Amino acid sequence: MSSLQISTNRTELDVPLIYRFLSEQSTWAVGISRAVVDRAIENSLCFGGYLDGRQVAFARVVTDFATFGNLVDVFVIPEYRGHGYAEELLKAVLSHPSLKGLRRFTLATGTAHGLFDKFGFTPPQRPETLMERYFPNIYLS
Ligand SMILES: CC(C)(COP(=O)(O)OP(=O)(O)OC[C@H]1O[C@@H](n2cnc3c(N)ncnc32)[C@H](O)[C@@H]1OP(=O)(O)O)[C@@H](O)C(=O)NCCC(=O)NCCS
Repeated sequence: MSSLQISTNRTELDVPLIYRFLSEQSTWAVGISRAVVDRAIENSLCFGGYLDGRQVAFARVVTDFATFGNLVDVFVIPEYRGHGYAEELLKAVLSHPSLKGLRRFTLATGTAHGLFDKFGFTPPQRPETLMERYFPNIYLS
């Protein structure tokens, strides 16, 4: 398979594809509205992965570009999985100049620990210090 073209240009994103994946196929955002997806994209550093101009991968970083980042909505569309594209995308995320030197870079994953392990993500070193307000079913109500 050819290598992934990666861009942070929001105008290149296939937003209908991202919306379809998140709202119908993701394990974390089923039911999310198009308006919320649009707002999230607009206010994040977004990474699109493309093959021959067609988007096949996505990741989004919520960040202050100085101290903290949270990696969310990482996916490769099903027919393109298993070819290293998620790894290519993560390399691009972690080498992005605006995301260097962050004190903390977080993510949450139910199933893909094996992928993120490779990039130095670990379980929280001090889980007792972390708190959250978490409403996992908010898009279904
Ligand atoms: C997780 C996901 C992004 C991986 O995409 P991919 O392009 O198939 O991944 P890659 O081919 O780059 O795999 C890279 C490595 O990560 C590992 N990996 C991939 N998916 C994994 C998973 N779900 N769990 C554990 N390890 C995984 C692979 O085994 C591979 O390692 P290896 O080469 O040593 O075998 C893709 O399966 C996906 O979109 N899943 C649904 C959405 C999702 O779960 N996103 C992550 C939520 S935070």
